Amino acid sequence: MSKNVDSIAKAMVAPGKGILAADESFPTIAKRFASIGVESSETLRRDYREMLFTTPGAEAYISGVILFDETLFQKGADGTPFVATLERLGILPGIKVDAGAKDLAGHPGEKITEGLDGLRKRLDAYREAGARFTKWRAVITIGDGIPSRACIEANAHALARYAALAQEAGLVPIVEPEVLMDGDHTIERCEQVTTDVLVETFHQLAIQGVRLEGMVLKPNMVISGTTCPVQADVDTVAAATVRTLARTVPGAVPGIAFLSGGQSDELATAHLSAMNAMGPHPWELTFSYGRALQAPSLKAWGGSAEGVAAGKAAFLHRAKMNGLARTGAWSEAMEAASVA
Ligand code: 13P
Repeated sequence: MSKNVDSIAKAMVAPGKGILAADESFPTIAKRFASIGVESSETLRRDYREMLFTTPGAEAYISGVILFDETLFQKGADGTPFVATLERLGILPGIKVDAGAKDLAGHPGEKITEGLDGLRKRLDAYREAGARFTKWRAVITIGDGIPSRACIEANAHALARYAALAQEAGLVPIVEPEVLMDGDHTIERCEQVTTDVLVETFHQLAIQGVRLEGMVLKPNMVISGTTCPVQADVDTVAAATVRTLARTVPGAVPGIAFLSGGQSDELATAHLSAMNAMGPHPWELTFSYGRALQAPSLKAWGGSAEGVAAGKAAFLHRAKMNGLARTGAWSEAMEAASVA
């Protein structure tokens, strides 16, 4: 069992590859579709995700896809289950298993992720359906007097309980403690909060006996708040993020797959490339992007069959750019060269 999770985790962070986060919940995918003026329906969600999953050549850069419950059990237009399609391409299917971030009692403005009740049973069903790994996202907000210790500890504890259950089921846990970019805080404050959150997360993972070799960490980058008047540049973000991870993440963890968190697609790529150019590091540094991999593709698709070819081209382009960032080989010039 433990050897099995180790080898899945290794494959998820394989050199040159990263993870596509396509696990938007019903409200989130509806929001993304609304941004292109498309209503969310089961058929359109299927068509959109099928477009991404069947992009020829993307499997060279994509090791795994995080799915939402509906998609794990869904079939493509020709009746082939998505799980079978992904497996045939050598892409690992994964599943988001948390039940979302809810208000934390007694702590206005803060969230706790729910979903532990009944999780063991759900994990068995997901494994039976072909999932090889899982994801649980905790949300930490920076603001006036927050995050509180209560929020950091409750979320780290839930992440560790989830990770232990996932490994028990033979599934790799993606442990995602996301410190949000929202707010006017400085990069220094983000570094301080991210450090506190990661220290507590690995403390709780150790208490619950989670096997570090069989997990993947999915953190935020250390970055200026979205509305901070001073925005740290790419090299500053890369240096602060690598420093924070070096101080908090044991070398036994095989890989760190960043979320994009609202960064523009190119900036998310630039940051990852700069960090890898600073290597070698004790862990693989890769991507597990949602918006930063999908945004141009979603726009090019536009909700109709006529947009599928352009949507696939846009997705392949971003996957390739992030594949290059895995070795620090990306440059801005490549964006234009590859599109032309
Ligand atoms: P973003 O890259 O859009 O932040 O999504 C990643 C993800 O899976 C968030 O849970």
